[in-house]
Amino acid sequence: MSVVKFFSGAKVPLEMHKVRIVQKLNLVPVDRRLEAITEAGNNTFLLKNRDIFLDMLTDSGVNAMSDKQLAAMMECDDSYAGSETFPKLEAAIMDVFGMEYFLPAHQGRAAENIISKVFVSPGTIIPMNYHFTTSKAHIVLNGGLVEEIIIDEGLNVSSSYPFKGNLDTAKLEALVKKHGAKKIAFVRIETGTNLIGGQPHSLQNLREVRKVCDKHGLILVFDASLLADNLYFIKTREKACRNMSINEIAREIGDLCDIIYFSARKLGCARGGGICTRKKEYYMKMRELVTLYEGFLTYGGMSVREIEAIAVGLRETMDEDMISQGPLFIEFMVNELVANGVPVVTPPGGLGCHLDAMRFLPKVPQSEYPAGALATALFIAGGVRGMERGSISEQRDENGNEVYSNMELLRLAMPRRVFTLSQVKYAVDRIVWLYKNRDLVGGLSFIEEPKMLRFFFGKLKAKGDWQKKLVARFKKDFGDSL
Ligand code: F0G
Repeated sequence: MSVVKFFSGAKVPLEMHKVRIVQKLNLVPVDRRLEAITEAGNNTFLLKNRDIFLDMLTDSGVNAMSDKQLAAMMECDDSYAGSETFPKLEAAIMDVFGMEYFLPAHQGRAAENIISKVFVSPGTIIPMNYHFTTSKAHIVLNGGLVEEIIIDEGLNVSSSYPFKGNLDTAKLEALVKKHGAKKIAFVRIETGTNLIGGQPHSLQNLREVRKVCDKHGLILVFDASLLADNLYFIKTREKACRNMSINEIAREIGDLCDIIYFSARKLGCARGGGICTRKKEYYMKMRELVTLYEGFLTYGGMSVREIEAIAVGLRETMDEDMISQGPLFIEFMVNELVANGVPVVTPPGGLGCHLDAMRFLPKVPQSEYPAGALATALFIAGGVRGMERGSISEQRDENGNEVYSNMELLRLAMPRRVFTLSQVKYAVDRIVWLYKNRDLVGGLSFIEEPKMLRFFFGKLKAKGDWQKKLVARFKKDFGDSL
């Protein structure tokens, strides 16, 4: 995305790509939107695509691919072992991270399974800037304990701090002192920290974390799923890195870490994943598990077409025009919402725009799931599908008590190169309308609540008839318009 000056002075992100393949969208009437969200048990995961206008659920596996990626997919070499395709991905990993060994996996969580099985044992501690749902689940499954040691500013929803994803190295030192280095399985850094709003860490922070790891002999594992956004933020927000190329930044990250894993549903704009390291010892430890759980070492559960696409996608990620598209669209959306007084996570991060449901709906208590309620209200208001990232995404404790999350967010993900700016403006318009009518929005309660992963499968109902009132207000304000 280019930073081109507009004569008018307006700050508009300018797409540095053209769109050659399109997919038709539907915008169904508001009555149908109410019906659809009711049929889905007020859970946006259970909506059908045909009822959705803008799908902002996730950026996972739904980013637009380039002409070069699609062309590469036609050239793939499909063989169980020794495929000609696989070395192309190994070479791309070497160019991007400077890491010699690469183990393929069918997606990010599969890499987490392998790493956790090899390095985590019961009673070990895994310090990290912040958890991601699947990363934590695999660590816990293997008996490990997650310790979140993000800087305090990281949990401040509304802030201007540029690197809210930084790990607090003083807290890391304190953990080592308390438990001893032997008890620490590895230190995990998640780049573009997902659950706190796609917030980046700085390169300087990673260097400092490495220093502590060196001092105590700790392994540093880096979740690079959201690396594209974080690279952009390092380049633009970290003064000392302004003159580094994107590839130089990525190579330094590679030099600082022992193991890098990623979801290629995000990084590389395809579908798949993998684990990289330059240490043969780690590679050998993980190798058998890859063949056991994923597939032979030259495909690891991925189609060779996707492997070709990842190899090209990783190289394309080294282009500032490519990686700036998400962050600049998100910044545009966040700034428009802030200008209209709508509470959102600031500063703008990567991944998506995150509405702060706690401040958006102050009258809806956490026991009635404000972020989940806001997700249904926005779907009714505009056919926009977001993802609840609040207490519904948590799990009850052993005694059946609710565990309330630190933040109640509605994540509106920005799949890269998928939406146009007018679609983003439409989403902003409907959010602003909803904010003006926020007093109409009430809470939700469970009607079907699975014990595990309730956010995927659970069904809820609106408390009272607030959703019908919202539809009536919509018709009054918008008339015949969809
Ligand atoms: N790590 C991070 C930081 C992620 O954001 C994800 C996935 C994973 C690991 C797991 O990767 O899905 O390929 O198995 N995040 C998706 C999302 C699901 O919607 O944010 P996966």
